[in-house]
Amino acid sequence: MAIRLIVLAAGKGTRMKSALPKVLHRLAGKPMLAHVLDTTAGLNPAGVTVVVGHGAQTVQDTIPHHVNWAMQSEQLGTGHAVQQGLEGINDDDQVLITYGDVPLTRLSTFQKLVDACHSKQLGLLTLYCDDPSGYGRIKRVDGKVQSIVEQKDATSEELKINEINAGVLCVNGECLKRYLAAIDNKNAQGEYYLTDIIAMASAEGHGIEAVQPADSWEADGINSREQLAVMERIHQHNLAQTLMANGVTLADPARIDIRGDLATGTDNMIDVNCVFIGDCRIGSNVVIEPNCMFINATVESGTTIYANSVLEDCVVGEACNIGPFARLRPGTRLAKSAKIGNFVETKNAVIGEGSKVNHLSYVGDATVGTNVNVGAGTITCNYDGANKWQTVLEDDVSIGSNSALVAPVTIGKGATVGAGSTITSDVSDKALALTRANPKTIDGWKRPKKQGS
Ligand code: UD1
Ligand code: CA
Repeated sequence: MAIRLIVLAAGKGTRMKSALPKVLHRLAGKPMLAHVLDTTAGLNPAGVTVVVGHGAQTVQDTIPHHVNWAMQSEQLGTGHAVQQGLEGINDDDQVLITYGDVPLTRLSTFQKLVDACHSKQLGLLTLYCDDPSGYGRIKRVDGKVQSIVEQKDATSEELKINEINAGVLCVNGECLKRYLAAIDNKNAQGEYYLTDIIAMASAEGHGIEAVQPADSWEADGINSREQLAVMERIHQHNLAQTLMANGVTLADPARIDIRGDLATGTDNMIDVNCVFIGDCRIGSNVVIEPNCMFINATVESGTTIYANSVLEDCVVGEACNIGPFARLRPGTRLAKSAKIGNFVETKNAVIGEGSKVNHLSYVGDATVGTNVNVGAGTITCNYDGANKWQTVLEDDVSIGSNSALVAPVTIGKGATVGAGSTITSDVSDKALALTRANPKTIDGWKRPKKQGS
């Protein structure tokens, strides 16, 4: 017996008012269809088929997962959609059917549906809700699920039923194929309803086990940007809860966004409005002040990131101080106790233990040793208009403020560069390098006056 998945994703998503197919709209930075595929991967399905229609090519080009794509050129209903995805379904398979626009169903809920589907018994995800309007209603007789009636086909009595069909079900492969061959579109919407298979299963005497999700949002689909925003907040709330459960203090769990994976140690403090994108890792005892952005960034233990800093594709070592207003660009690697201060930009820069770049500097394509001090306003002139060149500052170097280091250039161990210098050739160990015009003072100098006054 194998689990095979059919994901319906052919619908247009008219209410999104978007050129982008609905299932590609992103939740926590990831297309909603990718959420479904990532979660269901936990079931180790023998095969996954995604039924696409609107924007099929864009969907296929965007989603990296290895799945079978089935085409539904005309959206004739959910039953018709599943028919398009039947290739490769074996009689003894457990076929799990779900929607690409229902992104937050938990693995444990899918697992419950699969467990409920044995021999010819069917597992069906249902929900009790205060306002069932719009959904298919679950009809029970003597407590047993008998059929599903769609809103538009329902009698006024049936409309009062408050148990609804979430749209996810798990069914035996042989039954599914046989039932789908028998459905028609003689209903209020002129559609082939997947939901009609419920009555067929119950008529054959097969049990239908209704399973409820632990949380109602697991069954929520996204049809509009408003619903997308609501789901984003639900998801971010869940991620924030997990962070706190893992020992991270959040100034406000409603004001953090994680769009990817954030691995954390304990006793970290994250202030408001921080965004983590891609694969980020922070150690323990890290303090992150407000308004910081992390993209594939690693921050080791004991470090403080002051307000308004942006860290991308970089590694910050232990006990460093970053910012406020620092920008660490890709390829920045800081050793222990390094300090990057305000309005400093780094890129492809390896900075040694205890070294400081405190104010208003650009350090790019550079290797900086230990205990180096880079004065305010220092620029590594790494680009000659055609090529990028390296700057090397060896251990214990001191660079005076407002210096331009024209790469390729190496400043030897313990050397000093005087403030305001433009250094175009290598400086030997312990030397002082200066390029500076001699000061000139003109006594009693008269400032120019405005003409005519
Ligand atoms: C469907 C169910 C309803 C359930 C509701 C839950 C049927 C007949 N009805 O209704 O009982 O309460 O979902 O949200 O199944 N799709 C296709 N091709 C199609 C039609 C739909 O791929 O031809 C996809 C859509 O993209 C969407 C999903 O199937 O992801 C559901 O379609 P939708 O039109 O939203 O179904 P409802 O009519 O809301
Ligand atoms: Ca729907």
